[in-house]
Amino acid sequence: MKILVTGGAGYIGSHTIVELIKAGYDVVAIDNFDNSYPSVLESLKEITGKEIDFTEMDIRDKSALKTFVKNTPGIDAVIHFAANKAVGESVALPLKYYENNVGGTVNLLEAMQEAGIKQIVFSSSCTVYGEATPPVDENAPILVAQSPYGNTKQICEEILIDQSKATDLTVVALRYFNPVGAHESALIGELPIGIPNNLVPFITQTAIGKREVLTVFGDDYPTKDGTCIRDYIHVVDLALAHVAAIDYLAKQKNEEAFSVFNLGTGEGNSVLEAIQSFEKVSGIKLNYKIGPRRTGDVVQVYASCEKAFKGLGWKTERSLEDCMRSSWKWEQALATKENK
Ligand code: NAD
Ligand code: UD1
Repeated sequence: MKILVTGGAGYIGSHTIVELIKAGYDVVAIDNFDNSYPSVLESLKEITGKEIDFTEMDIRDKSALKTFVKNTPGIDAVIHFAANKAVGESVALPLKYYENNVGGTVNLLEAMQEAGIKQIVFSSSCTVYGEATPPVDENAPILVAQSPYGNTKQICEEILIDQSKATDLTVVALRYFNPVGAHESALIGELPIGIPNNLVPFITQTAIGKREVLTVFGDDYPTKDGTCIRDYIHVVDLALAHVAAIDYLAKQKNEEAFSVFNLGTGEGNSVLEAIQSFEKVSGIKLNYKIGPRRTGDVVQVYASCEKAFKGLGWKTERSLEDCMRSSWKWEQALATKENK
């Protein structure tokens, strides 16, 4: 099978390409390098031993996208990662997010329809649940989105539902919890641009000396140690779920045209536990301080992964320590590259 991967140079896209190729799929990837670098393609070649079939392409350019999809023979399914993902930026620049995340998805669906491609796996987010009672399953209510970014994920899911009702499109929407970690080779990983918003890159950048101190956003929450609880999932486990989702669509295991799965570990870890885990695997005492709560943070969220286990035959295999170990190795590899 040949899979078109949009956003293939990005964090989750690049790890998914590795696992797709390992599983024997042909991959064709596109990206506009808005939040990634062409050097990722070299790293993918080094890991997989294969030249990646890649085209620089912006999914907002509808006619170029349609021409590309039509002229690329044999695409069986699409995995759609391409989107902007910075929550804070989406509040400041909502139209950028609606144009790229929603408009880009509409363009892609039109291109797929014209080319007769009937299967798509979509990157959604646990952000659609807002503050829910964990473990959160797929039947938890979708709350009013807290940000334009979150809203784009809800809108795209609705568009996909409508399109799957109107045509013979089949959809798997994957709601990720907190993706972290990097490939064991340390050749690919997350590349946060500027000051990271997310916890794990902030931890590793503090440990390497790029940031002075990590601020823990609040220790007065009603949780085991007062800090927020999240479900940190290793990006390689996440990538493997996409391979399982493609298999699920290919073998027509889906009962509905639109299926949705939570992707997490099923375990909640606090911010302090994440720090302790990092300190254990790195042997570094992290410089951190307790600060005020961050506006908009939910207290605790972790997934019920039963549906993914039953439906996709998938579950995570990597621990929080594996996440921290690989993130640290990746940060060190980045520092070595920067110092060259
Ligand atoms: P990323 O920014 O690393 O990857 C996205 C890729 O898409 C980038 O390489 C970017 O250059 C590309 N892109 C953006 N706009 C494009 C366009 N118009 N045309 C072509 N390429 C474009 O992000 P990621 O962490 O790999 O996230 C992948 C997907 O998963 C996104 O849809 C994101 O919203 C979703 N998601 C991510 C997380 C997370 O924490 N990383 C959590 C939930 C959902
Ligand atoms: C954020 C996004 C969410 C996205 C998710 C995964 C927001 C409001 N939400 O969620 O939409 O799906 O990332 O990419 O941005 N923390 C600190 N200090 C820091 C950074 C984080 O204490 O410097 C804490 C946070 O308060 C939180 C936990 O660490 O409790 C995880 O934070 P983060 O990595 O930003 O992820 P989320 O807030 O879960």
